[in-house]
Amino acid sequence: MPVDMRTYLGHVELVNPITTAAGCAASGAELAQFFDLGRIGALTTRSITMAPRAGRPTPRMAETPSGMLNAVGLQGPGVDAFLERELPWLAQRSVRTVVSIGGGTVAEYTALARRLTDAPGVTAVEVNLSCPNIEDRGRVFARDGAASAEVIASVRSVMRYDVPVLAKLSPDVPDIVSVARACVDGGADALSMINNPLGMSIDTETMRPALAAVTGGLSGPAVRPLAVRCVWQVHAALPSVPIIGMGGVLTGRDAFELILAGACVVAVGTALFHDPYACMRILRELEELLAARGFNRLADAVGLAHRPPGASTRHRTDLEESSL
Ligand SMILES: Cc1cc2nc3c(=O)[nH]c(=O)nc-3n(C[C@H](O)[C@H](O)[C@H](O)COP(=O)(O)O)c2cc1C
Repeated sequence: MPVDMRTYLGHVELVNPITTAAGCAASGAELAQFFDLGRIGALTTRSITMAPRAGRPTPRMAETPSGMLNAVGLQGPGVDAFLERELPWLAQRSVRTVVSIGGGTVAEYTALARRLTDAPGVTAVEVNLSCPNIEDRGRVFARDGAASAEVIASVRSVMRYDVPVLAKLSPDVPDIVSVARACVDGGADALSMINNPLGMSIDTETMRPALAAVTGGLSGPAVRPLAVRCVWQVHAALPSVPIIGMGGVLTGRDAFELILAGACVVAVGTALFHDPYACMRILRELEELLAARGFNRLADAVGLAHRPPGASTRHRTDLEESSL
């Protein structure tokens, strides 16, 4: 029997738990050459900004052991072009679309949300909080629970009530649970984690930083244990809040690990750069793995690793019924 792979972001049903990670599939057109985007749970766009952005100087990417560094700097055509061309293209193909937004002030995030609120084809809005707050000496919003909550509350207040607002968190904080809690208190319907931790590498031939921006975001398998830890801690503290887990997912087994930690949706990022079919392959591998372990529903595996070893049964509802 096929496994029921449906999952939910708030009240929004996704046919399966696989999405792309923001910034790793632009707005989907390139990926659509390889498979029908309607077959994954959702497509998450790059972070959309108010104005077009050329991004940071090159080199912007550097390979690292089991990962890569990037300092792309939210390159993109800006919200006008997104709404004129990219979003309608996705909507025409009925692709469930999570629109990521990035801004430098609370007002900018809010203005972006206003532009999206009546746009057809927005399944959810993911607020990329890893942007520098230009009103606070460039301090990244995600490093401050109160600043993150302010952005989320403002975006939530203007966004259509039936469009979930997701807060995307950074692992570069001493206590991710407190930032997560602040975002939920601010009105976040779900949480995404993790954005890239900051890293750096130095080219020993040129004896200079490998990236023009000096530091950059680390991604790929190197960050997976960090992602698993963050998802685990936040799910333990806020078990009813849906989590999109991401960080170094290359296989169905990696996705399963994040699901066991508490994610109900899994995003695939860096893997797409060397395997454009990664989302479909990971979905198939995950489904096979769940079936092999006797699951009928993906939902039964979400957060399962939190249960004590003796209570290893997979089907809580069955258990509860049998103990009546
Ligand atoms: C090249 C590149 C660009 C990214 N751009 C964005 C972005 O625009 N917005 C965002 O929220 N995250 C962005 N991210 C972070 C990813 O969405 C994801 O959180 C992170 O890379 C961890 O997943 P992964 O290891 O599967 O790539 C970017 C990551 C990479 C590698």
